[in-house]
Amino acid sequence: MRRRDFLRDTALGTGALLASRWASFAHAFESNTRGARVEVLLDEPLGTISPNIYGHFAENLSGVIYDGMWVGENSKIPNINGIRKELVEEMRKIKPSVVRFPGGCFADSYDWRDGIGPADKRPRRTNFWEDGESPSAPASHKYDPNQFGTNEFVHFCKLIGSEPYLAANVRSLTAQDFYRWVEYCNSPKGSTTLADVRAAGGYSDPFNVRYWGVGNESPQFHQELSFIASGPNVEDWNWTRGFLEEVLKKGHGQLRSIYGMALHHYAWNLSRGATQDWVKGKRDALQFEPVDWYELLREGDRMEGLITGHWQVMSEFDPEHSIKLVVDEWGPWYRPGNEATASNQLEQIPTLRDAVFSGMTLDIFNRHAEKVGMANCAQLINCLNSLYLAHEEKFCVTPVGHVFAMYAEHQGGQGLRTIFSAPDVTYDRDGKPARFWGLKGSASLHDKQLVLTVVNPDVSAARESEISVRGASIQSGSATTLTHTDIHAHNSFEQRNVVAPQSRSINGKGGTLTYSFPAASVNKLVLRLA
Ligand code: AHR
Repeated sequence: MRRRDFLRDTALGTGALLASRWASFAHAFESNTRGARVEVLLDEPLGTISPNIYGHFAENLSGVIYDGMWVGENSKIPNINGIRKELVEEMRKIKPSVVRFPGGCFADSYDWRDGIGPADKRPRRTNFWEDGESPSAPASHKYDPNQFGTNEFVHFCKLIGSEPYLAANVRSLTAQDFYRWVEYCNSPKGSTTLADVRAAGGYSDPFNVRYWGVGNESPQFHQELSFIASGPNVEDWNWTRGFLEEVLKKGHGQLRSIYGMALHHYAWNLSRGATQDWVKGKRDALQFEPVDWYELLREGDRMEGLITGHWQVMSEFDPEHSIKLVVDEWGPWYRPGNEATASNQLEQIPTLRDAVFSGMTLDIFNRHAEKVGMANCAQLINCLNSLYLAHEEKFCVTPVGHVFAMYAEHQGGQGLRTIFSAPDVTYDRDGKPARFWGLKGSASLHDKQLVLTVVNPDVSAARESEISVRGASIQSGSATTLTHTDIHAHNSFEQRNVVAPQSRSINGKGGTLTYSFPAASVNKLVLRLA
């Protein structure tokens, strides 16, 4: 079907309003085939963008906690009660809503009692991840010294202005152990023995931890707790269906005791054809061709279908959608070999590609604001898609960290339906033509301020775009762009600002403005509306 015929048929089928919109897109396409249009529909709200979409994940895995977050009170590295000061300062800038701890896989081996009480009395335990640790890794990576436990984690959250999300061990501990952990954290001062233990550690006020990750056997407390059920990995629709069937066997009321269902999706960036061997088949974090760039983004872009697919299954059992999706692990995952600190297991150095991937993913969450109750990027520091890298006194913000800083302004806004119309990017995949979308993003309204984030995935072409805000006039604005001429660009301990956002002011005319989104870029426009 020719584009003109498609536009005509679509317009006829969906009424006069769409007809006029599509007619203007047709004009734009025909006058400039490399151009694009972005139309923000102020009168089509999608729901409030939960700040929890901008959440993080910190597992007790290799260099994440020890060295990354925790340096110890007696360290020469600047710290606040043992917590790395530079990390706290950077995180305060990004409005981190929630942090998940202590895993992941680690959570299923963790006894929370090991991490409370006087620090010098806490036991050392073999870390779940010790098998993968290199001989040169510090002892704290193999043998968990438990210096960073519940108190320290909750204190960290308080310092950065975040809510704690604790993942309970329901594999090797009992439901009663879980109950006791809730009691330790949340029982009022002077009430229970565990509240006294907490107070003796210097924390007399209850932590009031609200988010708890569980597999099953949720304890009942006379407080508002938000349980997050262990959920599907990628497109395991049967897990979602089976889980909800079981919950409903206990009655409809049970649905309301669950805040969210977890969903995990990592983009493996596998060699083409290598679907089985997920370790050897993975490709490199730093050395890649444009085809790898697009293929990784394509893999990440599956997130949108996963959200809508699981939501569809959930609606069969929970049509009112009292349960939300909690995407508590997401990000790209490359093969080992490019760690900033050689001994750090699962550490990778994020490049501009990972910034574009992260902007794209956060835009997907924003576009599904009514479905996604929380999301947690895996993982915060010294790991997979990390916002920060640190080793001893060295520290840097990665391009992913900059994306989180740029997107923080979406938090709590009213998501708006936004139409992106741009020609696809075409590229060569093993001698055959392949395509990827040309421009996408998301928008949110905060009183009279519109925040529009846009990703241009094209590795070589800028996208000249006409942006219209229907029914409003643009008074003033600013544009922030994160990009680089080299798609492999990244920050390091030695060169901390190779990839950094640049801002400038922009002007509109009425409700329209023209903006050129650079090649391989993540962009934020903040527009003051009359
Ligand atoms: O993020 C690393 C690991 O990936 C987590 O521990 C686990 O949940 C997932 O497989």
